[in-house]
Amino acid sequence: MFPLAQPVPGLPGAVWATTSINTPIDTTFLTPAENELYQTFTAEQRQREWLAGRRAARAALRAVGAGAASILRNAEGAPQLKGPHADQVEVAITHGSNHAAAVATHRTSARPCIGIDWVDPSDLHRIQRIRHRVLTPNEHELCKDEDVPLRLAWGAREAMAKATQTGMFRFALAHVHLKAIDQKSGEALINYPEARIRFMVTSDHGLVVIAAISPTTRQEANLTANLC
Ligand SMILES: CC(C)(COP(=O)(O)OP(=O)(O)OC[C@H]1O[C@@H](n2cnc3c(N)ncnc32)[C@H](O)[C@@H]1OP(=O)(O)O)[C@@H](O)C(=O)NCCC(=O)NCCS
Repeated sequence: MFPLAQPVPGLPGAVWATTSINTPIDTTFLTPAENELYQTFTAEQRQREWLAGRRAARAALRAVGAGAASILRNAEGAPQLKGPHADQVEVAITHGSNHAAAVATHRTSARPCIGIDWVDPSDLHRIQRIRHRVLTPNEHELCKDEDVPLRLAWGAREAMAKATQTGMFRFALAHVHLKAIDQKSGEALINYPEARIRFMVTSDHGLVVIAAISPTTRQEANLTANLC
């Protein structure tokens, strides 16, 4: 039922997991508190993606010793953990059109504030349409018309929106940009030098982008978001 969690290359202590959204609906793994939340969803696609996100998150949390915690949500929609070891770890969730993925890490790690984004190949058209409004001149140069760098320019912003818990529109869209990309190692540099951005291309060409930052960078981002 649970996917295999694996270490995030280049991010010590962080693990991630991915699972299909298109599986028969099964809620038996939910805790009572999660089940209560699940009952609020009525659309089948939303139920499937939410359950897949919880399965991926549970797998990642198990790998960092917090598999018994309930994965609820805070007022902004971000995952909020309650229960055993909940205050010792952080988790982030994303969905693509067919898959969900999650990443978890210990709060004691160097960069405990994490975010994740799944960018489907089909998202490229939308990104192409808005690239002239969003990307910096350096990013246009880095991305040219290449698929992965262009999706990465978007995914890094979404992953940073989650890692900072500021959301895409108050902060990441305008204040996060790529400075360099190393496609071989799966590492990107952004304008927050302390941040680590890792990316992987899955077997069905999904791009998974993970951002990990320190609490100081999260605080700085929140300050920026509140000034905007
Ligand atoms: C939050 C946001 C980055 C999500 O990205 P997305 O591409 O729409 O969706 P994804 O599938 O990648 O991720 C969805 C998951 O992100 C998580 N999430 C939602 N809001 C979040 C937030 N504020 N911070 C961190 N994670 C968040 C949830 O786990 C959600 O899945 P779930 O509802 O099934 O648990 C984006 O919707 C956004 O920024 N919206 C604007 C919200 C905003 O600006 N709010 C202001 C204060 S935060």
